[in-house]
Amino acid sequence: MLSELSAYVSDPAPGHGALLPARSWLHSDAAALSLNGPWRFRLSPTASVAADFVADDFSDDGWGTLAVPAHWVLEGDGAYGRPIYTNIQYPFPIDPPHVPDENPTGDYRRRFDLPEGWSGAERIVLRFDGVESLFTVWVNGVEAGGASGSRLAHEFDVTDAVRPGDNVVAVRVHQWSAASYVEDQDQWWLPGIFRDVTLLARPAGGIEDVWLRTGYTAGQGRIDPEVTADASAFPVTLRIPELGVEQVWATAAEVVPLEVAGVEPWSAEEPRLYEATVSSAAESIALRVGFRTVEIRGDQFLVNGRRVVFHGVNRHEAHPERGRVFDERHAREDLARMKRFNVNAIRTSHYPPHPRLLDLADELGFWVVLECDLETHGFDKVGWVGNPSDDPAWRPAYLDRIQRTVERDKNHPSVVIWSLGNEAGTGSNLAAMSAWVHARDAERPVHYEGDHTGEYTDVYSLMYPTVPEAERVCTDDASSTLLDCTPAQSARQRGKPFLLCEYAHAMGNGPGAFDQYEALVHEYPRLHGGFVWEWRDHGLLATASDGTPYYAYGGDFGEVVHDGNFVMDGMLLSDDVPTPSLHEFKAVVQPLRFAFDGEKAAITNLRHSADTSDLRFLWRVEHDGVSVDSGELDVPVVAAGESGRVTLPRVAVSPDAETWLTIDAVLATDTTWAAEGHVVATAQYDHSVRRPVPRARPRADWRPGDGTLTLGIADFAGGSLTRLAGRAVTGPRLELFRAPTDNDESPGDRLEGSDDSVAGVSSADLWRRDGLDRLTSRRVTVEHATDALRTVDKVSAADSALSVTVETIWSVEGDELELRVEIEPSSGWRTVWPRIGVHFGLPDGTAPVDGAEWFGLGPFESYPDSLHAARTGLFAAPVGELSVDYARPQETGHRSQLRHLTLTSGADRVVRITALPDTQGRRPGFTLSRHTPQQIAEARHPFELPDSTTSHLIIDAAQHGLGSRACGPDVWPEFALRPEARTLRLRITGGPTTT
Ligand code: GAL
Repeated sequence: MLSELSAYVSDPAPGHGALLPARSWLHSDAAALSLNGPWRFRLSPTASVAADFVADDFSDDGWGTLAVPAHWVLEGDGAYGRPIYTNIQYPFPIDPPHVPDENPTGDYRRRFDLPEGWSGAERIVLRFDGVESLFTVWVNGVEAGGASGSRLAHEFDVTDAVRPGDNVVAVRVHQWSAASYVEDQDQWWLPGIFRDVTLLARPAGGIEDVWLRTGYTAGQGRIDPEVTADASAFPVTLRIPELGVEQVWATAAEVVPLEVAGVEPWSAEEPRLYEATVSSAAESIALRVGFRTVEIRGDQFLVNGRRVVFHGVNRHEAHPERGRVFDERHAREDLARMKRFNVNAIRTSHYPPHPRLLDLADELGFWVVLECDLETHGFDKVGWVGNPSDDPAWRPAYLDRIQRTVERDKNHPSVVIWSLGNEAGTGSNLAAMSAWVHARDAERPVHYEGDHTGEYTDVYSLMYPTVPEAERVCTDDASSTLLDCTPAQSARQRGKPFLLCEYAHAMGNGPGAFDQYEALVHEYPRLHGGFVWEWRDHGLLATASDGTPYYAYGGDFGEVVHDGNFVMDGMLLSDDVPTPSLHEFKAVVQPLRFAFDGEKAAITNLRHSADTSDLRFLWRVEHDGVSVDSGELDVPVVAAGESGRVTLPRVAVSPDAETWLTIDAVLATDTTWAAEGHVVATAQYDHSVRRPVPRARPRADWRPGDGTLTLGIADFAGGSLTRLAGRAVTGPRLELFRAPTDNDESPGDRLEGSDDSVAGVSSADLWRRDGLDRLTSRRVTVEHATDALRTVDKVSAADSALSVTVETIWSVEGDELELRVEIEPSSGWRTVWPRIGVHFGLPDGTAPVDGAEWFGLGPFESYPDSLHAARTGLFAAPVGELSVDYARPQETGHRSQLRHLTLTSGADRVVRITALPDTQGRRPGFTLSRHTPQQIAEARHPFELPDSTTSHLIIDAAQHGLGSRACGPDVWPEFALRPEARTLRLRITGGPTTT
């Protein structure tokens, strides 16, 4: 028994029994019965428990109830085990194809009544759209078969097993099986029947499968049909009423290509679909046809003859409460959100999504790279020894997986590339998959990133290259070879279209440098863009011991091995909140480019094929962020790839405020993904007159003092600020630390172009080594002058001889207080610094400082290598909205290029701070937070942050960039902050005035 069982769970065979060949997932009018809903359920710790439950008369009275579809580990409050998160690691011993005896096994049972009238069906088919990872199914005690391939559809012929009236279906699901070795994607391990279960009545004379391949050239559509049906199904009729198509095929031999005139093409921008039916006397299939031609010409990937640029995201199926269970409303909203953020492409990392997702992609308009359910990354650890990708025993499973992938989704116009899988090394089984796809679908190219040398794939793909690495692929420099390639292989790869299947790792606060990759896309036609890793965090909603809800990541469920918060690397937080990176992405990839030139602007349409007739161009003029004029620009329709010149409105330039012209390109009408007025692209044009920076009054009468005095609205004791505008204040204190971002914490070694990092050691470790998080200070001098105070502090950390000298000069100028801080590092600092700033503590007192109004970059946070989404304007936000709730607390909230800032307390203005530029014209940024960087750095989850009684204002002369080092390149040198002398000059006036 035991050996039989272990032979079963460790068998690489993809399926057995009455498992039917793969076919399209079709919308048919043939009868169907959903078996979703409550099933009886029992979980056993091993696979060896007797399969007695399949019998018709078995009593499942003692069992629990589990919903189908669901993952059992997410149901029952932990009664059915817990989720496990790993990236590359296998959560079981690497002993292929075996899995441990500790193999959670879920037994499912339910009864159903065979609908009356189904007795006339020719066949009854039981379809499972997704079961993780290996399952066997019985109907009325008769074994129908079994299968693996968690994110693939499986159909069983159960005609002989069903009976009129009452039936019982039993399913046994093993969490671990041989298939687990080829499903090692970076995600939660979530067993169970997690997609729909449906019973289908297949009519005699029905249509088994249909494929309407399409093509498009200059107004002319082409349909190359394939109908799989018995001879008895004919005649079969194709109807596309909108195009006047009614094509009757009397026999299978007559099913030949047809030309259709007057057709509008399908594209991700204009997803034109035509309703079609393919019908026999017994069954009618509804399809939506999109006409488009996919081709590779040289190193160009074209749809309808035009080069495609992917502004894409990697999309996992992830829902904070349901895991990979598909929630159509949630998915549709997610896709609409992608459209609103200028995402035009999806890579279905790393498996086929729920089939309905592709219907939504066709309809909303996305270029889709559809990926097969395959990854064996854990073999990397053992030098790829035993990797199934090159083991003949696994060939049937590999072929089965790609066949199920392609067959299920072949009708979708949105699918433009097939991907064999992800991170499965390389080997003959992958080559065999590719050959199968080429034979089956001659049009759509095959992608697989792991085919570094280009032996069997049609496009060249890299993940996380540095900008110079990516650029090397785009240029034909024969002297530089590509990853793992000989010169000849490099030349072969350079002859293909190039894309980045993953880039810009969006973990935590980051990434930086979207703009640098985007610049390459415009410079080099060979580069077709890429797919950000990744669309959303995979946090699972959990509750802390004190009842606070939070989004759990690896380790939060007591896993034996796990990969922590590496699963929180999306541009969207788990609760659907867009992070600043998503705004940055939107701004960088916006489909219009504006070039201002005096009274004119050139507007370039960067789209694939859509013109600008769907847009209106609204303008406004602001003086220090206050709108003084606005209107609509008359912009001629600009065709894709073209530029149009427009005359700009006359701008009233203010002599004593900054004058900015802002143009928003907005949707002229409602779409399915956004309302009229939604901003698609924005540009700003600075019309400000140059104004002199007020000089500080030189003071010569410095004399030693005790530092206890009042200067205007500021009180000092011992040289330190104690009260400002009638409120208790501490500071200014030098702050060089930021709560490390996930990129700061990564010891990753992708250093090219970034000589500031140390291989194998994270920036955060270097900062902690140098004591940036625990600086102490010694006051060297305190001096007074008329209406002025000067202190000099030496700031350094325990057991370090490195130091920073901080000179602080307070003075009163008219009714304004001026603070000048000179920050000067000693020699010998060798690492980059996270920030150069000064910290003020603002204890709550009777009314806390709880908000900010500012003129500068906003409303989003911004960092030196992520500045495109933030625009110059006047903004206001409560303190809670100035930070992003990253799943693991970290640096957040920096607003760059500050001009002035007003701290508010309820409706009161507490102080107004004007930031003067330094001699190089650089302006500081600020953060206002309820926690210090040190407190934030301590917390693993937001709920671990201590209760706060103080607001913390940090004015930064400079901040370090963000980079992508959690998985990819470190901060680009230009945006890396090296220790250096900096000056801060702030002018401060007091309140309270009411806002
Ligand atoms: C890639 C992998 C993704 C994900 C990413 C890092 O190597 O393909 O699945 O793990 O790294 O988040």
